[in-house]
Order: sequence, then structure tokens, then C-alpha cells
Amino acid sequence: LTKWTVLKTSVKVSLVAGISYGCYEMYVQRHPLVQAEADPEKKTIVILGSGWASTSFLKDIDTDHYNVVVVSPRNYFLFTPLLPETTVGTIDVRSVIEPTRFIARHKSRSVKVIEAECTQIDPENKVITIKDNSDVKEEHAVSTLPYDYLIVGVGAMSATFGVKGVEEYGCFLKEVWDAQKIRTKLMDCIETAAFPDQTPEEIDRLLHMVVVGGGPTGIEYAAELHDFLVDDLTSWYPELAGKVKITLIEALPNVLPAFSKKLIDYTESTFKEQNIAIRTKTMVKEVREKEIEVKRPDGTVDSIPYGLLVWATGNTSRPLIRDLMQKFPETQQARRGLAVDEWLRLDGSEDIYALGDATATRYAPTAQVAAQQGKYLARLFKQLAVRENLEAELMNASDEEIAKKGRKLRKVKDIKPFQYSHQGSLCYIGSDKAVADLPLGPGGSLASGGVVTFAFWRSVYISSLFSTRNRALVITDWLKKTALGRDISRE
Ligand code: FAD
Ligand code: NAI
Repeated sequence: LTKWTVLKTSVKVSLVAGISYGCYEMYVQRHPLVQAEADPEKKTIVILGSGWASTSFLKDIDTDHYNVVVVSPRNYFLFTPLLPETTVGTIDVRSVIEPTRFIARHKSRSVKVIEAECTQIDPENKVITIKDNSDVKEEHAVSTLPYDYLIVGVGAMSATFGVKGVEEYGCFLKEVWDAQKIRTKLMDCIETAAFPDQTPEEIDRLLHMVVVGGGPTGIEYAAELHDFLVDDLTSWYPELAGKVKITLIEALPNVLPAFSKKLIDYTESTFKEQNIAIRTKTMVKEVREKEIEVKRPDGTVDSIPYGLLVWATGNTSRPLIRDLMQKFPETQQARRGLAVDEWLRLDGSEDIYALGDATATRYAPTAQVAAQQGKYLARLFKQLAVRENLEAELMNASDEEIAKKGRKLRKVKDIKPFQYSHQGSLCYIGSDKAVADLPLGPGGSLASGGVVTFAFWRSVYISSLFSTRNRALVITDWLKKTALGRDISRE
């Protein structure tokens, strides 16, 4: 052995050892071997919800300063932008959810995750009531939970505007179970239409898929349905595929009202090419088991037979939110949800903060806003903790120390209000095309639509998925779909 070989070997060994140690350290940082227990000396933050707002808060909150409890009726985070793809089997539902406990596992102090619905908030006594909704017990267990700070991120529910029959016969598209219900109903309609001796009228009805609401949810669902029809149904149900009809109904004069005119026109013309009928200025007045009643632009009423009805007409507040608002009659009068100040603190309360779709702010109810608010609030709470610690230290400090630390204290006292940074709006419109409205410098914007925008759309969503696990699963699903087509079995 020459000296030179020994030197080269030791450099290689040190390099491998260094990299391995670095990876191990990174792993330990992300999955602390031992998580600290809850500390009775520290304040407890109770987070309601495991959606965009609450999960982004949970990811960033510094548990060195607080005990944290999460309460949500679902024990996972759902990446809603890819939910429409799960309705037709482009991707699997499991690929777009992340268990909340996986996220909590990364924290330095252990986080309590309770799968339950918060049914009541008592701001006076700083206690919430929670209910276990699982089906394993006949009687749902009810309990209470105290908090020092409450983070309300319970989102919103699908609006029906009181239209009769929607809840009974329509399908929403907001949660995992909604997507599963749509998929089952869609395959039911197709298989039943394939059953022998159906009348042509009944086949037409069963194969008429109606989407109500021309916002991004309705558009993306109609687009996915179209792709499923063209890519898969034509191969597996050649006798039916030509008979499937998709109709999108929108009350306003055009679809995607939040997008630029150019992209609205592009979307409408793409839908036309894809044989998706758009009926604008048309209001659904009633939903019956097999037909809907609509008011046409000229005021006349029409009945439309349908097989599957997807209802996507936006959001309304949850009962928990309406109940909380009633507890602050002077400050909580907004129709769309909770009123908060610029620091996301509930108007009228000192210890309750609210964010995401549960609030009524000047921002649109989007994941982008909710996620940024969650991140901001975690920063705010860190600053609050540092401030409280400094104030406690300075209580008995000498003049010299006060002079030294006073500047730092003034700095942490100055908590900046929440500022939203809009990254643009994207929407999938079918046939591997998407539209994008992107902000470009002060006041400028870039509107683009087509196949390249679709590639951009995919890359944005892949990079914004919350975990590497989800990224790997979604990419695998996309590859699987391209190579083998979608699964058409009924769930
Ligand atoms: P949510 O994400 O809805 O989370 C609410 C959480 O609260 C859930 O975990 C729920 O289980 C829980 N909860 C409910 N009731 C209670 C209770 N009583 N007690 C405790 N917990 C409760 N936005 C975009 O910016 N880009 C997109 O591409 C996009 N695509 C979308 C696609 C679809 C199909 C849908 C439906 C929405 C889409 N959005 C998109 C909008 C986005 O999903 C919402 O704005 C976002 O989810 C709001 O986040 P949130 O945390 O306020 O509410
Ligand atoms: P929305 O509120 O954006 O659109 C609902 C549409 O339904 C409206 O255009 C409304 O005029 C119409 N409508 C209401 N009642 C009707 C009736 N009776 N008959 C016919 N039409 C009726 O709701 P959506 O699409 O569910 O979106 C909710 C939020 O989530 C929005 O802020 C949206 O931006 C966001 N989102 C964003 C996506 C994206 O960026 N790709 C995808 C999905 C949702």
C-alpha cells in the first residue's frame, strides 16, 4: 500500500461517514427520537381542523414554546387541488392525503391529535366541546378541552343556497368521501345504462352528467370527466361512450368569473371542442331524483333529466362558525364567516385566532390564502412567546440589562400584520390543457392557456404537495394512468 492509496481511502471513508452522519442528523431533526412531553408551565394552543390553514400552522408552530393539540373529524390533511382527479381514478385518494400524525411526528414536543368534531366553543371559560363521530360506538362520546389559545381553521361547507333536493340527490366535491361517492355513482350510471333492455330515454338520462357551478371546482370536475370519457370509456364501453353527455350550468354570464376575459373565452371554446355543453345565465331552482328544474336566461323554466349531478356552487359557513359568531353579536356580523383583524385575531376576542375559509376577509377562499395565513400565524406565535419571555426576564432586570434588551423587546413587540402574496390562479380544463393567470410585477399579469400551461400546472402542484411520500405516489399514479389507463372498477 502506498501512502497515496491510504490517503485516498481515508478521504473516501470520511466522506461516506460524513454524508451518512449528515443524513442521520437530518432524519433525527425531522423525526426527533424523543419528543418532549407536554409542559404544564407552557400555554396550550388548540388547533381546530386539519386542512390547509391548520396544517400549515401545525407544520411551522414552534412546539418548544407551546403545548399543541389538534382536533379534527378527519385524521389527515387533504390536498384539495388534486381531488377532482380522484373522482375518475386519474390518481388514487390515498395519494393526496397525509395523516396528521405524520406531520405531528416532526415536532420537537409531542402533539396530541384527537379525531373529533368540535361542536361548541365557550370563549368565556376558554373551553371547547368535542365529539367522537366514529361509527364503532353507538353513543358518540363527548368531552371538553381547555385552551389558552384557539386556532379556528375548520374551513367551510358546500353551499346549496337552499335549493331543494341538492343534499338528497346531488354530490358535492369537497372531501374524500364526496369524491368516492361521485366515482361510485358515475360507474353505477354507466353500468346501469349498459344493462340490457333499457329504453333509449333512460340510457340518455343515465348518461347525462350535470355539473352545477362554473367556478374552478365545477370546471375541473367537468374536465376530468371529459378525459375519462375520451381516454377510457370509449375503449371499455364503445356502445355507450358516444351517448355520454356533459352539461355545465352556471348562473352568471360566464364561467370562471375570477379569471381574465382571455382565459374565460379560451376555457369556453375548449369546452365546446370537447363537447361539454355550457349553459350560462341559467339557475338551478330544484333538484329531483331524476331531473333538475332550471330557470333559463329568458325566465322560462326547463326540466333536465340527469344521471349524475355534481353540485359545486361555492362555500357557506359551518354551524360551529355561525354559533361562535352569535357569541360576539357586536363584532361578528359578516355573512361569509368570522371577522378577524389584520393579525388574524377574532374580532371581539383576545385568545381566538381564525384563518382560511372559515373567515370573511378581503381574500378569496383558497388554499393559497389559507396556507400563507397558517405560516404567518405560526410566526406570530413564536414572536409572542419570545416577547413574553423577554418581558418576564426584564421584570427584575437591572437598568443596564433593560437598556441592553429593551431594543430587542421593542423589535419583537412590533408584530407585522398578515400580508397575502398572490402567486397566481391555475385551473385544469381538460385534454391536457390548463389556464393560468399569473401576476407579473406591479399591476401586470400573464394569462396563458394550453398544453405548456398544463405542464406548469402539474409541476406547481407536485412541488406544493406537503410530503415526498405524496409526491412519489402522485407521480406514480400519473405514470400508471398514462401506461395502463384508469381503473374502471366500481368502488
Ligand atoms: P379546509 O382545507 O376545508 O380544512 C378544514 C378542516 O377543518 C378539515 O380538516 C375539516 O375536517 C376540519 N373541520 C371541519 N369541521 C370541524 C369541526 N367542527 N371541528 C374541528 N375540525 C373541523 N384552492 C387553491 O388555492 N388552489 C386550488 O387549486 C384549489 N383547488 C380546490 C379544489 C377543490 C375540489 C376544492 C373543494 C377546493 C379547492 N381549493 C383550491 C380551495 C381550497 O381547498 C380551500 O380554500 C382550502 O381548503 C381552505 O383551507 P381551510 O384550512 O380553511 O379549510
Ligand atoms: P365558486 O364560488 O368559485 O363558484 C361557484 C359558481 O357557482 C359561481 O360561479 C356561481 O355563480 C355558481 N352558482 C351558484 N349558485 C348557482 C345555481 N343555483 N345554479 C347555477 N350556478 C350557480 O366555487 P368553487 O368553484 O367551489 O370554488 C370555491 C373556492 O375554491 C374559490 O375561491 C376557488 O377559487 C377555489 N378553488 C380554486 C381552484 C383552483 O385554483 N384551481 C379549484 C377549486 C376551487
